Amino acid sequence: MQIIAHRGASGLAPENTLKAMSLALDLGAKAIELDVQWADGELWVFHDRRLERCTNGQGVLTGQSREYLASLDAGDEERIPTLWQVMALVAGRCELHIELKGAHTAEPVAALTRRAEAELGFTQAHWVISSFHHPELAHFASLRPDLRLGALTASLPLHGARFAEELGAWSLNCDVDFVDQTLVADAHRRGLKILVYTVDEVSDERALASMGVDGIFTNRPDRFS
Ligand code: G3P
Ligand code: MG
Repeated sequence: MQIIAHRGASGLAPENTLKAMSLALDLGAKAIELDVQWADGELWVFHDRRLERCTNGQGVLTGQSREYLASLDAGDEERIPTLWQVMALVAGRCELHIELKGAHTAEPVAALTRRAEAELGFTQAHWVISSFHHPELAHFASLRPDLRLGALTASLPLHGARFAEELGAWSLNCDVDFVDQTLVADAHRRGLKILVYTVDEVSDERALASMGVDGIFTNRPDRFS
């Protein structure tokens, strides 16, 4: 069972911050998931569409200036990191599962993964690029066909894992509320891994392991080490 620190060690530090990433590394995480959005010419590591829940700012992230976003407190006086800042911190020490949160992310993420391979010690094997935005994921695949993709769903698809196979994905990433034995079997039959989010209880992880699930995203990587 692969354990992926969700938004860093986000149950123990402010989500998607350098502190959460650093803590995940300290806990020995072999993989970290993070969310990226594009605003004012930069990739920001941030989950929500709006700023209010996770920062002292206001408004929709994608409409803000670089100066404003860099000035915000994202919890414990952490800043919203850029993707490059997280890459520089991790520097090839674990896998990064980069979730494209929306439009205009595929091209800059493709460029930045290439730059990180050249400058920061990452290899192609360090990346899994995922998204609920399947057209953006397909666009990414056309830019970097050499990287693994994770096709996200927050529902039980009508045709099982077919959508993930059609995207050429490496994994189908499903919400814990919807995954079932049939979906796991269908993903495996199509040669796909199946990863499940968000799983913080050991008893849930045990049940998913017996279902054949290949990995989990957790806010509490300390519970699974
Ligand atoms: O990538 C797994 C998970 O992060 C997807 O959902 O909303 O937590 O980004 P969300
Ligand atoms: Mg995510």
